[in-house]
Amino acid sequence: MADTELAARIKSALASVEIPGGGDLASFSGLSEIIATPSAIAFAIAVTPGMEAAFGPARQAAIAVAQGLAGARKVMVSITSEKPTGPKFSHGSPQPAGKTRVKGVRRILAIGSGKGGVGKSTTAVNIALSLAAEGLKVGILDADLYGPSVPKLLGIEGKPTVRDDGIFAPHEAFGLKAMSIGSMLVPGQAVVWRGPMATSGLRQLLRETDWGELDILVIDLPPGTGDIHIGLFQQAVVDGVVIVSTPQDLALIDAQKAIDMLRRMDVPVLGLIENMSFFIAPDTGHRYDIFGSGGAEKAAARLGLDFLGPIPLVMSIRENSDAGQPPVATDPGGAEAAAYRAIARAIISRMRV
Ligand SMILES: Nc1ncnc2c1ncn2[C@@H]1O[C@H](COP(=O)(O)OP(=O)(O)OP(=O)(O)O)[C@@H](O)[C@H]1O
Ligand SMILES: [Mg+2]
Repeated sequence: MADTELAARIKSALASVEIPGGGDLASFSGLSEIIATPSAIAFAIAVTPGMEAAFGPARQAAIAVAQGLAGARKVMVSITSEKPTGPKFSHGSPQPAGKTRVKGVRRILAIGSGKGGVGKSTTAVNIALSLAAEGLKVGILDADLYGPSVPKLLGIEGKPTVRDDGIFAPHEAFGLKAMSIGSMLVPGQAVVWRGPMATSGLRQLLRETDWGELDILVIDLPPGTGDIHIGLFQQAVVDGVVIVSTPQDLALIDAQKAIDMLRRMDVPVLGLIENMSFFIAPDTGHRYDIFGSGGAEKAAARLGLDFLGPIPLVMSIRENSDAGQPPVATDPGGAEAAAYRAIARAIISRMRV
């Protein structure tokens, strides 16, 4: 059945689900668009604050109805409510009460950046592989719903399987357990996962995946600070965030706002990684400090952050990454791998892994 047809059928079937106060879910104004992908069905029910618990049975009934039509697809239904006071962190008070750890996962490390295209995903994958090379059990979760790239970077194809109990079995690549919303979406569909939908999609990827026992889960965040970040930091204990930046951005870095938010939300910022820091000539191996040197340390100091180290700008990083051959795994003795591994050790020493 085509995805759009399935979504329409589920929508009609939701007419059999009663909601508090009378009426049915199909005609309820709080029902979001129903998203159907080859492996998942997702929708949200937006309710007035305080009504979340009352809608619990309707949510269960909706899951049952959708699952009856969805076959092997995973059904994700979330209840959301708009808090009239706006995001809680804007008043400077974190809400650690809602934060819980993910089953089987000892530590979570998130990789963020002020802006896009700075090499965050490439760094996240190679740091994850470096942590594994230090003997840790490592997973990676691609939380960048709008531009997922972990599947490509790790050469992963196809969808994750959903077990009979509704739990995802993650992909395995180069010894990492890997999950990405990217492998569940068809091109062009990511943009509809906004706001609460995106947040609850991420929660389910995080909590309804069989990670086994992990020492550390690396999360590749989208750039900036948006719904995904706030949603993640509110619901899960994130043990550390590292910020990736390029020398050009460091000059005009606007990370202060993001860093302030992380601190208010009780998320430790471990430090700054400078990516594409210096250039290594492919023919001679000579190092050129094309952007000058020492800028990153100064920028880190200005922001009150530790400097975790530089990663060179090397063509082979781009080429091998595009080919699903991350340098840390495929050329462990190379200079690129050495740069990532030094940073991974700096991270380990700052996180009690
Ligand atoms: N150190 C490096 N040397 C050379 N190329 C690099 C390096 N790091 C990343 N790249 C290349 O830069 C491009 C952007 O990298 P990447 O996708 O990791 O960035 P991103 O910050 O995750 O981007 P987005 O904001 O789109 O998620 C890719 O083509 C990647 O191969
Ligand atoms: Mg990315």
